[in-house]
Amino acid sequence: MVGVSPKIAPSMLSSDFANLAAEAKRMIDLGANWLHMDIMDGHFVPNLTIGAPVIESLRKHTNAYLDCHLMVTNPMDYVDQMAKAGASGFTFHVEVAKENWQELVEKIKSAGMRPGVALKPGTPVEQVYPLVEGTNPVEMVLVMTVEPGFGGQKFMPNMMDKVRALRNKYPTLDIEVDGGLGPSTIDAAAAAGANCIVAGSSVFGAPEPGDVISFLRASVKKAQPST
Ligand code: DX5
Ligand code: ZN
Repeated sequence: MVGVSPKIAPSMLSSDFANLAAEAKRMIDLGANWLHMDIMDGHFVPNLTIGAPVIESLRKHTNAYLDCHLMVTNPMDYVDQMAKAGASGFTFHVEVAKENWQELVEKIKSAGMRPGVALKPGTPVEQVYPLVEGTNPVEMVLVMTVEPGFGGQKFMPNMMDKVRALRNKYPTLDIEVDGGLGPSTIDAAAAAGANCIVAGSSVFGAPEPGDVISFLRASVKKAQPST
């Protein structure tokens, strides 16, 4: 089996928001594949971050893949504005899309973005299977490894059962992990089969963020079957 390619996505939530364009450039220059953008509405999660206007401003300064993680109660309301702003990926939470996910995925795709689905720690992995197997499937599953809302929390190793179940079922699916990832937790995530790695505080808090990015990528590669 050929492994799915590693994508290292620094979470810009841990960056200096007052210098977002420079921070984005710094991460890409240091080898990041994607920039992870946490969109929160103060309702789905008890925190408020950035929205489409900031994505639009950032897009003027970078061509990077903007991996947008929508922690919002009504993701449908954000599709058009995020697409116009220049988002690349649009990952919504399954907990708020039980009824309308088919329409949502269709809308995300026709707006030119790549659809993904995220699940909170308390949500059973089975809930995303229909979204991966449907006629109009999502292209990434994001397994939260902390409760969404804040950076700097502790990685939950028991979430790796979900990653393993997804990897066994879907050998070529992009599987992202988000929360508490860094040099000390990457091996568990990579061994379980995650290939898209979000890392906020471990990258931005490091003396040499480029070394952390390289280390995370090497760990994902090392864990993948070579034949
Ligand atoms: C949390 C966010 C994460 C967060 C990760 O709700 O989805 O993307 O920034 O930060 P760290 O890597 O510090 O746990
Ligand atoms: Zn996130």
